Amino acid sequence: MTEPQQPTAENPTPAESPTPELSTHGVGPWPGEHPTDPHYDQELLERGDTRNVIDRYRYWSMEAIVADLDEHRHPFHVAIENWQHDMNIGSIVRSANAFAADTVHIVGRKRWNKRGAMVTDRYQHVVHHADVAAFVEWAKAESLPVIAIDNVPGSVIIETFDFPRSCVLLFGQEGPGLSEAAIEAADAVVEISQFGSTRSINASAAAAVAMHAWILQHAAFDSK
Ligand SMILES: C[S@@+](CC[C@H](N)C(=O)[O-])C[C@H]1O[C@@H](n2cnc3c(N)ncnc32)[C@H](O)[C@@H]1O
Repeated sequence: MTEPQQPTAENPTPAESPTPELSTHGVGPWPGEHPTDPHYDQELLERGDTRNVIDRYRYWSMEAIVADLDEHRHPFHVAIENWQHDMNIGSIVRSANAFAADTVHIVGRKRWNKRGAMVTDRYQHVVHHADVAAFVEWAKAESLPVIAIDNVPGSVIIETFDFPRSCVLLFGQEGPGLSEAAIEAADAVVEISQFGSTRSINASAAAAVAMHAWILQHAAFDSK
């Protein structure tokens, strides 16, 4: 398991960041005596916590949140071809975090567009593969079937597809979609049925639909 990505100049720490993490939501300073449980971050207790995290994680350090997520991540992975710095990649990372995907794999260019991630990448394991061959080699070594998600000839419809419990969902980018190499390497190619006039839906929308299709088949639910 690789470490989650650390803050960088491109993607700074919350204290330096103008991202929505610091904007409107959150809680103020902890009232009264501070708890000493090690998963709490003393600075957040002192100043308040305005990060975009669920209530359960209020005042927790980032390391403690990642460690807790690691206890219940799902066994599906998400991979995205990144040849053009596609802006959807950040949104896909955000959905992968929301659905507790094991790891996000960036295939192709190493630098990816973080704008849509809303800093969720800090809580997500993100791994880079130089090309499709390297990605497929990793998937084979992990015994993970590659499920390509695209609406190309020969694909099967997602609405009747049985997702393997452990697998990696592979997405293409806006414009070209999945490369031929990616489609050829896939164990299955799955399309989301459409009923209108557009050729495709947005790549990050497709990723959210596909991840949730896996969730519907394999996740455990609490009745709320
Ligand atoms: C703009 S689409 C790709 C182009 C598409 N193959 C076409 O014929 O125009 C970009 C990515 O979004 C995802 N996507 C979009 N619509 C989809 C659909 N209906 N079914 C499955 N994946 C879809 C795929 O991962 C695809 O590679």
